Parts: sequence; C-alpha cells; structure tokens
Amino acid sequence: MKQKLTLIGFGTVGKGLCEILKDKSQRLNNSYDFDYEVVAVADFAYGNVYNPNGLDIDLMLEQANAKQKFTKDLSELDTVSLIKECNADIVCELTYTDLQTGGPAIDHCKAALSTGKHIVTSNKGPAALFYPEMKKLADENNVKFMIEGTVVAGTPIINLTDGPLGGCEISRIRGILNGTTNYMLSEMEKGMAYDDVLKVAQDLGYAEADPTGDVEGFDARGKVTILANIVMNAGIKIADVSCEGITKITLEDIQKAKEQNARWKLIGSVEKKDGKVIGSVAPEMVDLSHPLAGVMGATNALTFTTDLLGDITIVGPGAGKIETGFSILTDILSIHRSQ
Ligand code: HSE
Repeated sequence: MKQKLTLIGFGTVGKGLCEILKDKSQRLNNSYDFDYEVVAVADFAYGNVYNPNGLDIDLMLEQANAKQKFTKDLSELDTVSLIKECNADIVCELTYTDLQTGGPAIDHCKAALSTGKHIVTSNKGPAALFYPEMKKLADENNVKFMIEGTVVAGTPIINLTDGPLGGCEISRIRGILNGTTNYMLSEMEKGMAYDDVLKVAQDLGYAEADPTGDVEGFDARGKVTILANIVMNAGIKIADVSCEGITKITLEDIQKAKEQNARWKLIGSVEKKDGKVIGSVAPEMVDLSHPLAGVMGATNALTFTTDLLGDITIVGPGAGKIETGFSILTDILSIHRSQ
C-alpha cells in the first residue's frame, strides 16, 4: 500500500527522513508492504512544491544540500493552503520549534488534521502547548496525531509508554532529555570552551535553530511537559515546570565535579507527589557510580519508575539527522501498519 507524504520543512529532519526512505524502501516494502510517494514539500528557504503523482526527491535533496531553491513542480500555494489542498495521507510537520506560541507548526497541524490527514511531527511546540486540542481534532477527523520524535528523537519513549508499558503505573520519569547540552558538558570535560562546543553541536545538527532553547533548558522543559501530560495525564503547562539550564556551568565547575568523582548533567524530571505532578529541569552533579553519569555525548537516557517492573531505563540518541528522521519513519509505519 502506498502512503502519500507531505513534508513541511526540508531541513535536517526532512532530509534525514528522505534519505532513510530511499535507503530502506525495498526492505520496508518486503517487510510491511509499505510504499510511499512524497507529493508535496514546503520549505521557507527552498520553496513550495507539489505533484500529486510524486516529486523528484533525488533532485530536491541535491538542491537543498547545495542550498539552492527548488526548480521543479513549483506551487503557488502558501503552506497552509498546500496542506489543505494536497492529496497526502500523512503530513510530516518538521519546521522549527516555537515553545512560546507553537507557531507556525500549530497552523500546519490544524490544517492537516481538519482536512483528514494524519500528522507526524518532531516539533515540540504543538505537542507541549496544545496536545489535548490536537488529539481531539485528530479523533474528530478519524486520523492520528503522532509525536514520537518530540522526545529523545527516534529512541522509543512515547510509543514505549503507550505500548509495552501501557499496563504499568508510571510514578516518576527522570533523565537526560537534551542532546546538545549533554554533548556540550561531555566535551567541556575534555577542556573545550563553551562557545566552541556549542558551535560544534549546531554544526552536527543537535541544537535547536535558536540554541538558547537548549542551553537555557527550555527544550528539556518542553519535553518534560509532554511526558507529564501524555504519560501521566497531568494537564500542566510549560510554565508550571521549573527550569534552569547549563549557562552558569563553567569549566571550573566541571573540574571540581571531577575531583569529587561526579559529573554535571542537565536532569529533567517529572514525578507524581501527593496527587500532584511536579516537573523540573536543572543541572545536577551526579555521582560517577550512577548510571546517568556514564551517558555521554548527544545520547539521552530516561528512567521510568513503574509499579509492576520497578525501574526501566532506556538509553539512546536524542538528536541528529538520521536519529530524528527515524522517529518520523516509526510513526509513519505505525499509521501504515494500523490500516
Ligand atoms: N535540540 C534538541 C536536543 C534536539 O539537543 O536534544 C532534539 O529535541
């Protein structure tokens, strides 16, 4: 069965997804009878393109990698109209995250869901700010609002708690939720200066478009909010989660921690306490004997405290082109396999 896809945003994640789809098309077809066609792409840098019979993805990857505008199948439609009018089954919302307003992604999600198209997104804005509204709109239109990529890239978190851990009561989630800052803290331990290592994290595609979101802890706070609301049904707002980033951590602090057999980590946590759900993000000096202390680079790790299984820890990539591209593929496949 062929899934027709529209990609909103053709940056790191969109290109990563296309590369995976190209590389794995035969395997996905053999294993899941999955076939695809990208019918529309909208990108503010490269332009909007639409061909109901399928776009030339090789050409688009070539042009985007060369930072050139698209030249084939150009569309006059603005992005919201394109989403509404295209013949896609699934719209992948892959634009930049805005945790203040959710825009412009929120308009893209509404346009897709209200016209009966599934949304798959790695954009934290709509999920952190408007999850209940998006879920309701999706349910009303008999489609899905899928957000695996919003928390820890393609490492299964949302799907894990909703699927295999579905029968467990989860009372606490705690761990490393931001790849950029974990990468920075790891490299700073080797002596690299804060600004230099932030630049490398941006070049590697880990950091947000505005890296303030990473270093101030806002990105992790968005993820804590998503986990609190989806896994614990907390109904909390981003502002309810206390937040401190890593901007005040110096090379000296890192050295001091080393002398005390410890390591700084930016820890996100959400916990049920006295009937309330409390969320927080803050740097913590973690003893080297603790499993989280050994998690280095852009890797993330989360421990779920459950009633039936005790602690379950999952460690995996939390950022990156292919890693986040995979999160989109996993949700696309999940929609495909449920049909
Ligand atoms: N900037 C984010 C991070 C990307 O570094 O974890 C994934 O949300």
